Amino acid sequence: MAKPFNVGIIGMGFMGRTHSNAYRKVSNFFQLEHKPVLKAVCALEPEEKLKAFADTWGFESYETDWRKLVERKDIDQIDICTPNATHKELVLAAAAAGKSVICEKPLAMSAAEAEEMVAAVEKAGVANLVCFNYRRVPAVTLARQLVDEGRIGRPFHYRVNYLQDWTIASDVPQGGATLWRLDIKTAGSGVTGDLLAHSIDTAEWLNGPIQSVVAKTETFIKERMHQDTGKVEPVKIDDACMFLAMFANGSMGTFESTRYARGRKNYNTFELNGEAGSLYFNLEDPQYLDYFRYLDPATGKKVDSHVTGWQRIHVTNSEHPYMKKWWVPGCTIGYEHTFVHTIADYLHGIETGTPAQPDFRSGLRTQKVCDAIIASAASGKWVDIP
Ligand SMILES: NC(=O)c1ccc[n+]([C@@H]2O[C@H](COP(=O)([O-])OP(=O)(O)OC[C@H]3O[C@@H](n4cnc5c(N)ncnc54)[C@H](O)[C@@H]3O)[C@@H](O)[C@H]2O)c1
Repeated sequence: MAKPFNVGIIGMGFMGRTHSNAYRKVSNFFQLEHKPVLKAVCALEPEEKLKAFADTWGFESYETDWRKLVERKDIDQIDICTPNATHKELVLAAAAAGKSVICEKPLAMSAAEAEEMVAAVEKAGVANLVCFNYRRVPAVTLARQLVDEGRIGRPFHYRVNYLQDWTIASDVPQGGATLWRLDIKTAGSGVTGDLLAHSIDTAEWLNGPIQSVVAKTETFIKERMHQDTGKVEPVKIDDACMFLAMFANGSMGTFESTRYARGRKNYNTFELNGEAGSLYFNLEDPQYLDYFRYLDPATGKKVDSHVTGWQRIHVTNSEHPYMKKWWVPGCTIGYEHTFVHTIADYLHGIETGTPAQPDFRSGLRTQKVCDAIIASAASGKWVDIP
């Protein structure tokens, strides 16, 4: 009989839904000692909406004040799915109450905040994880496996695009419900913390630490109406960010992100080019990993030239990461499964004593890179990551 793992989720928006879904599904597909129980949800939406959300997703109860949720003795785990500016306060309270905690990305508004959060969870000795769920797309996890197997060899280039187009219209307001991403006070930064944080986490996971960056950011629409005040106010977030990076392994990185790439919705790609081979992934085509094999890792010899070429791996075989838990080869899974994998790995980490990654300490690194990008964009100079 699985042990109940009592969960309280804060936030019932986009991520509140993906996390609720993941806790509900995980025990059906992964054999774990713990079985999540959705004890309570808390959010700022009107109470009838909160109640309807709780009913839809099978929560036993709801709370209108997150402090009550955090204090509840019948809850083991706090899951934070709220805007970035709230993360620190919620994490500090959850850790002080001895709860384990998953926090959405970016971990914090700044590295200084993230340091406090790391100290709090480490002092409390509670399990912790930042939800960088793209690591857990099977094709991305497979990319890491191919790197570990030596199939890429000495890396030269790491190339990222993370492109969207939803803020091009100048009449999109800033601030308030769902549009808090455009408000510096709630988001901390624009595409840097929102989109590039994902790319940086994946990049460091696949290609090791970033040592230094030089960045340029742009805010294309300088003023927007703020939903809370009704006034036209300056926009202070970065609408677009380009940065160059040097990795500790000597390879060079180029990263580009924007919410002004007409036609691009969640175009999140990376390409890694090494001496022995290359990898390419695109989140809008998530069941594929493209692999170019130049050297055979078993023999160290060149693959016969007449059969070299990019290989599109359909990542649905039972040998592929996570896939034997799902359907039969050829049947795809999607976006929501990355959150199920996150919860499965997190619980497995608690059960085995080897914590799942990225924990808060790892999330702090990503935050330091984000801070360095913003600092470099302001100074125009290369900035080292401490
Ligand atoms: N992992 C991913 O791929 C991914 C995707 C989207 C968003 N996110 C992150 O998830 C977080 C939430 O984003 P979202 O898109 O779900 O936002 P959202 O606007 O859809 O939902 C935010 C929720 O937080 C609640 N909330 C805000 N302040 C609160 C408070 N003080 N107390 C209780 N509830 C509060 C709101 O009522 C709302 O229910 C952000 O940090 C964001 O960066 C991550």
